[in-house]
Amino acid sequence: MQKMVINGGNKLNGEVATGGAKNAALPILFSTLLADGEHIFHNVPDLMDIKSTRDLLESFGCETSFNENTLKIVVKPLKTFEAHYDLVRKMRASILCLGPLLARHKQARVSLPGGCAIGSRPIDYHLNAIEQLGAESEVTSGYVVSKTSGLRGTQIIFDMPSVGATENVLMAAVLAEGTTTIENAAKEPEIVDLAAYLVKMGAKISGAGTGIITIEGVKSLSPSEHHIIADRIEAGTLLIAGAITGGSVKVTNCNPKDIEALISKMRESGFSIEVGENFVSVNETNSWKAVDVTTTPHPGFPTDLQAQFMALMTQAQGSSIVTETIFENRFMHVQELLRLNADISMKARVCVVRGNKNQLTGAPVMATDLRASACLILAGLVAKGETVVNRIYHLDRGYEKLENKLTKLGASIKRIE
Ligand code: UD1
Repeated sequence: MQKMVINGGNKLNGEVATGGAKNAALPILFSTLLADGEHIFHNVPDLMDIKSTRDLLESFGCETSFNENTLKIVVKPLKTFEAHYDLVRKMRASILCLGPLLARHKQARVSLPGGCAIGSRPIDYHLNAIEQLGAESEVTSGYVVSKTSGLRGTQIIFDMPSVGATENVLMAAVLAEGTTTIENAAKEPEIVDLAAYLVKMGAKISGAGTGIITIEGVKSLSPSEHHIIADRIEAGTLLIAGAITGGSVKVTNCNPKDIEALISKMRESGFSIEVGENFVSVNETNSWKAVDVTTTPHPGFPTDLQAQFMALMTQAQGSSIVTETIFENRFMHVQELLRLNADISMKARVCVVRGNKNQLTGAPVMATDLRASACLILAGLVAKGETVVNRIYHLDRGYEKLENKLTKLGASIKRIE
């Protein structure tokens, strides 16, 4: 099993480019099931989750080829409508094949994704919404089995703006008969990118990026070509990497508008941040103050940057209150930060992080999930001595060669077997 070894203390400096967004690419890749023929995507990150999605699409009978961040998917008549447990268990986002399979083929058998480290992550919103669109579902032997005589547009109101459920409904509704409205829809940039690709394929969608999305069903869609948006979570992680070491780092190829909540919190903390059309940079700062942060759906502070921001707050002056409202168990990194000598108290969904520059000391730690692994690497960049992050495969699900990008900026970090 691979590990990351970091020797803390180097100030990061320079320029680094963001890759394509995993969370935008995944639903878009599943949306190809809506139209036979050749789909072409650029700026696709080379990640385990992309590989898992390709494996799943290939298991349905699609052909895929990946070269230098360009992914071609040829969708042919499917040989199965089943997403097998062996593939789904590797990646929860596999549930996103449900909407397109039902819309196009009127049937789907998808393994239940199950829980994961950051919480139970149910799929009840997905199933209720699909039912309102006219599909019947039952859960049997660990699989969701759904069928429909034809989806029909309707009004769907979510209790919470779920990213995945909004995406699944979008992909189901584009081929439904009549008009669907999604109210309390998720507003994340990844929803906007999915809608952009669906529209390129011929779908009629308005309001993506707002709380109300309207979809007018069409008879059929055709494959197209698309450039995946930049990964806002990677951009934010790289910006924090520069900040935590007190360095000057320019993160390019990104959309600063997508991380405004992070930029605003960092400015409040005392960082000097410059923003351009497609870059954001943090200037050398030696001390910064603690600020409180609460995760909320977009455009609020993203849960996917909470762990990394907490690492930054371990180095701040004063105490910061970090509140996680999206997932019930997303503080797994706290135990590991304590191993690095951080001063953090945790109660349910709230942590108090007592910051103190120079408090972290290197130690072996365990990555528990994707963003927790990024948090531990950031902490390792400033911890005295050597930090070894185990179970690095979590990192590879969501960050493309993070160690190369950090090395280029001056970090001492290497991957070992
Ligand atoms: C997506 C992102 C993930 C991010 C999360 C929140 C992808 C592949 N993953 O996950 O990185 O952390 O958005 O920004 O894009 N919920 C239910 N029932 C449901 C669906 C969701 O109760 O049927 C709850 C979840 O448990 C959670 C909340 O709604 O508490 C938000 O989850 P959701 O937005 O659906 O997250 P994902 O789409 O799984």
